[in-house]
Parts: sequence; structure tokens; C-alpha cells
Amino acid sequence: MQIYLDTANISHIREAAAWGILSGVTTNPSLLAKEDPNVDVKERIREIHSLVGGHLSVEVISTETDGMVREAHEILEWFPEATIKIPMIPTGLGAVKRLSDENIPTNVTLIFNPVQALAANNAGATYVSVFLGRIDDIGMSSSAILEEITGIWYTHNLESQIIAASIRTPLHIIESAKLGAHIATVPYNTLKQSLQHPLTDKGVQLFLDDYAKMQTEIAKLKG
Ligand code: E4P
Repeated sequence: MQIYLDTANISHIREAAAWGILSGVTTNPSLLAKEDPNVDVKERIREIHSLVGGHLSVEVISTETDGMVREAHEILEWFPEATIKIPMIPTGLGAVKRLSDENIPTNVTLIFNPVQALAANNAGATYVSVFLGRIDDIGMSSSAILEEITGIWYTHNLESQIIAASIRTPLHIIESAKLGAHIATVPYNTLKQSLQHPLTDKGVQLFLDDYAKMQTEIAKLKG
């Protein structure tokens, strides 16, 4: 399962990119606005891509099919590598179909149930983003819904790649991998938390301490 970073924060992206485990980045209007209300979106997107490469989803803000398709073309003029992120609404499906006919990659976002995922696949979406955390927020089981979706996917050999999104905890990453999501897009804090373990830190410290002790002994022996 590939890992994307779900953020528009440039210092977090720079740090995580250096770990060498990222295959892409997803952004949305809320993530961009959270960083800096005056952010130059085009500059920020291009900077993110220069750091990570790979997949980069850029979301449209129109809600009508024609507007979404027009916006997608505008985005591709200044950032040709973009995957166009489209909301899972009926007009969005129409836009996905038209963009897919032009071989433009799309990521259908805000998916909460298997029928939405199936519809997005059938419209020609390259990616379908299932929002785990927001499903849990309304008292439903994100892992049960993701299991239904991946079950349908592998039964019918469907083409869209499943992105587990709205990840809030390390457990969401584990469940996504176990259930067969192709990608998890993870906020910086959750990714960092998942990579840390107290026994790893304790073990590293022990190795360093033992190495230092050994050096002291060697120095003593040498007089
Ligand atoms: C995915 O592409 C979205 O940007 C993101 O995962 C939304 O997560 P949230 O529910 O934590 O806002």
C-alpha cells in the first residue's frame, strides 16, 4: 500500500519527503486555507510537487459539471501533472466521465459508501477517496465500510485505485492496508506518530550508551 501525505504544510512535506516513503500528496481547499489564507495556491502546489513528485491531487471548487471540467483544464495549464480532485456529487460524476474520456486523471473525493465508490469507478475515476475518519465521526464503522468496498473491488476486479482518506489514527493505516486499500493518505502528525515506538527509541539509546561505554573501555586500555 502506497502512502501519501495529506497536507499543504510545506515544512511537514519537506521533512516527510526526506524519509523516502511518500508516493504523493493530497490537498484540499481546507488544507490550503489552514496553512496561510494568503497562500499562492499555484506556487504552493508546484513547490509540493518539486519536493515529493508522484501523485498530487488538486481539488476543484465548482459544483457544476461544466465548471469542474473548465477548472480542471485551467489547473492542468499551470500544473500538467495534477490529478483533478472532484467531489462525489452527481454533477461531479459527469465531470469525471468527461475528463476520463480525455485521459485526465481524477480523484473522486468525499466517498462514504460502496455505491458512491462504485459510481465513481464506473464514471472513470482514476482514484476513489473513502473518508474513514468522517465515517467514524458519525458513529459508523469505517473499517466495515472499507471492507465492503474492497470486497466489491476485488470481486469485480475494478480499475480505480482506492485511497483511504480522512485518516486520523495509526489504526486507520493498519486497517487500510489489511483490507486492501491501494493508498492511504495520512496527515503528518499521524504518520509521524505511527513511525515512532518507545522501544525503538529505548533500543537506539541503549546501543549508543553501550557503544560509548565500549569506547571508554578502549580508551582506558590504551592508557
Ligand atoms: C483527502 O484527500 C482529504 O483531503 C482528507 O483526507 C480529509 O480528511 P479530514 O476528514 O481529516 O478533513
